[in-house]
Amino acid sequence: MGIALTGSGSCTPQVSLDNHGLSQIVETSDEWISSRTGIRQRRLADAETSVCAIAVAASKQALEMAQIAPTDIDLIILATSSADDLFGTASQIQVQLGATKAVAFDLTAACSGFVFGLVTAAQFIRTGAYQNVLLIGADILSRWVNWSDRGTCVLFGDGAGAVVMQANDRDRLLGFEIRSDGTQNACLNLAYRPQPKELVPGVTIAQGAYQPITMNGQEVYRFAVKKVPEVIEKAIFRSNISVEEIDWLLLHQANQRILDAVAQRLKIPPEKVISNLANYGNTSAASIPLALDEALRQGKIKPGDTIAAAGFGAGLTWGATIFQWGR
Ligand code: UT7
Repeated sequence: MGIALTGSGSCTPQVSLDNHGLSQIVETSDEWISSRTGIRQRRLADAETSVCAIAVAASKQALEMAQIAPTDIDLIILATSSADDLFGTASQIQVQLGATKAVAFDLTAACSGFVFGLVTAAQFIRTGAYQNVLLIGADILSRWVNWSDRGTCVLFGDGAGAVVMQANDRDRLLGFEIRSDGTQNACLNLAYRPQPKELVPGVTIAQGAYQPITMNGQEVYRFAVKKVPEVIEKAIFRSNISVEEIDWLLLHQANQRILDAVAQRLKIPPEKVISNLANYGNTSAASIPLALDEALRQGKIKPGDTIAAAGFGAGLTWGATIFQWGR
């Protein structure tokens, strides 16, 4: 069974914080942040804004573009690392959309979550199990950022993006490659720290809390610049096309220098590189569908265009997929 991506949508919180605003919180400057990362501002969710709410808003747009009803959806996958509920947030999205037929679950692969979700969704369509899948990438990492760590707090922003994937006569998902390497897990964490608690003598359990994000930026940078071009080349090879046939390079929006270095290694010219991180920062699982949706609505990406999308991040995880937009 072939697969097509037929609808997209996105939602970001209203409130934005620019680099000057950040310099009131930590010792930094607009000059440092924009020259080292390309980021100029980011959107931040207030206390009333949930992952579910921005995911639902993005999903409604995607369903409208795909021209399908919520009741047509067979499966909802929410890629997130900042779920409203650790038991899963996808079911709350299901009920708010009125997707009564759909099964819904969360998938966590940090900033690779959207690509991992796309590949997961594709397997259900390929086998004929499901026809219509709603895939969402949504994160509110501002909840988990250490706002006194200038090495990380300048990078992240909040947002959501969604796509509709459908069974299609013509196969538009040409190839993929996804990878993990737990040996480098310590480079980037949002980890639970246990606190021993004795229930009765001899029976101790742990009740702790998640700790804010920690990151070795240079290690993650080196990893991304080396591994992302490799995985894209592998996905291109599996797609049986050449790199010249790629119309758009759509990378996880982490750092403009990473986008530039990956494009350079693949010999993809800058005008084919999608970038919107100046306005949103790194929105984790949301960054690829958010940039995709913006480029589609600007008329930049057109039906039939061939897109190489790649995510990378904590785990460590990374992956690429090659697809053509539309039916
Ligand atoms: O989804 C994946 C998420 N993670 C990433 O994508 C991270 C990948 N890594 C990066 O993007 C870059 O490594 C960073 C943007 C995080 C850092 O850039 P860098 O060029 O690797 O800087 P650095 O860590 O080597 O730091 C250079 C200097 C240091 O000062 P000294 O030791 O040279 O005096 C830092 O203390 O810059 C300092 N610094 C800052 N200065 C002003 C670090 N953060 C800041 C800051 N403002 N926000």
